[in-house]
Amino acid sequence: MYKIIKNICCIGAGYVGGPTMSVIAKNCPHIQVNVVDSNKDRIKQWNNTDLTKLPIFEPGLDKIVGERRGKNLHFSTNIEHEISKADMIFISVNTPTKTKGIGAGKAIDLKWVENCTRQIAKHATGYTIVVEKSTIPVRTAETIKKILTSKDLSLNSKKYNKKVFSVLSNPEFLAEGTAVNDLTNPDRILIGGDNEEAIKSLVEIYSNWIKKEKIITTDLWSSELSKLISNAFLAQRISSINSISALCEATGADIDNVAKAVGRDKRIGQEFLKVGPGFGGSCFKKDILNLVYICDYYGISEVAKYWQQVIEINIWQRNRIVEIIVKKMFGNISEKKLAILGFAFKANTNDTRESPAIEICKRLIEEGANLSIYDPKVPAQRIIEDLDLEKFSNREISKSEITIEINLIDAIKDSDAIIILTEWEDFKNLDWEDISNKMRSPSYLFDTRSVVEEKEVEQNGINLWKIGSSN
Ligand code: NAD
Ligand code: UGA
Repeated sequence: MYKIIKNICCIGAGYVGGPTMSVIAKNCPHIQVNVVDSNKDRIKQWNNTDLTKLPIFEPGLDKIVGERRGKNLHFSTNIEHEISKADMIFISVNTPTKTKGIGAGKAIDLKWVENCTRQIAKHATGYTIVVEKSTIPVRTAETIKKILTSKDLSLNSKKYNKKVFSVLSNPEFLAEGTAVNDLTNPDRILIGGDNEEAIKSLVEIYSNWIKKEKIITTDLWSSELSKLISNAFLAQRISSINSISALCEATGADIDNVAKAVGRDKRIGQEFLKVGPGFGGSCFKKDILNLVYICDYYGISEVAKYWQQVIEINIWQRNRIVEIIVKKMFGNISEKKLAILGFAFKANTNDTRESPAIEICKRLIEEGANLSIYDPKVPAQRIIEDLDLEKFSNREISKSEITIEINLIDAIKDSDAIIILTEWEDFKNLDWEDISNKMRSPSYLFDTRSVVEEKEVEQNGINLWKIGSSN
């Protein structure tokens, strides 16, 4: 059934729901966009008049929220009410890896998707198009459809007879830190469904700012699976380049030069070949684990093993970095002060989910190092929670061993080594002469993102280890 969309509800005001709906609201002033979440604090933050205090840091997002909020963009906890008014509902809730039961550690936990689908079944009225925005296992739309058409749930509402649903898949490809740009100028919009008219309703929304040639329409299962495969391919490239970084270190080749030369082949392409301490972020690991789980479920174990290896290389990369740090510092980092520059999983975000910094710092703490951590955007409380200091089994961590600094110079003062873990712009042009004078000698710099100018560091007497290079 075709429907002109005047009112959208998005369930989930997170890293995807917030920015995605803000960009829709900006480009579709004729549509009322209501973002709802069960987390009251998060909604309160989205409604903060101080736009620097939004729950998510994304360049350009504050401006859009400032322009549209209160006009056609609204954040609230009135989930039932907004569902009942909506012509189209986006499911944009979290889909983490299961932590217990069948498939624990691999399969996606669909608890949140199922819960909000039940809310939709109960409170929606009339004809409603339900859009899967969350990343979910292939064939999840089948589950959603079953719940939406379940008599028991729908009968709870007096309006049962009037309820009709179409389910579409519309995965999100934005990356954190560039979300606004990715949403404004996407490579493609992918819409999967089996109802042409419903697909048309969603295509019309995106057509307000995206060229039709960029909008791909396909069947439900291909759309759902394409999202998992896109993330798997991206992560695979990172594991590929990271695996070669070790070979460069062993042979005297330089990983940046190799990446440049290889990427010049347009069949390979230059993007996503930047060496680092391993991929982080909330999605790559969980989506590949899910892919592995699905392959095993369908009995395709060779394929499962192939993708599992992308994760194994990722773990290996961050472990070997810790081993190199300890080895280079005479096999002992106990009671040495290590300045950690960067804790976010990548630059331009305050997100630390699955950040390689977490595991690297934990292992350094285990070795007895005193850490002084600085990140320009990640709040101190987040870092403390991520390090989960109470869980260290081998010893008690005293507060003086871990400090979180709000300025970089305090972090590096009297340190024995600096470890760059996130590629923040600020770290690329530091005053190494000044820094060298403030460190303890012999001083070390471990650049796990390959961002510093080697000469500048070395001519100031700092011992440099740069990932993927032989120095
Ligand atoms: P998130 O954890 O930041 O946000 C999810 C929000 O949903 C939370 O605020 C939570 O309170 C809310 N929620 C859960 N169940 C609810 C319910 N029943 N009713 C109301 N609110 C509910 O997650 P995210 O990073 O925005 O990711 C959401 C989905 O998008 C995931 O499937 C993820 O894989 C996918 N995705 C994420 C990114 C990214 O960059 N983070 C990019 C593309 C796709
Ligand atoms: C990634 C994808 O890029 C998005 O398309 C996708 O929508 C999203 O996951 C998702 O589904 O959640 P994101 O995790 O936000 O986006 O960020 P990326 O830029 O992909 O970086 C992921 C990790 O890989 C970061 O830790 C980053 O530092 C690392 N990375 C990335 C490298 O080490 N090298 C590179 O060349 C690129």
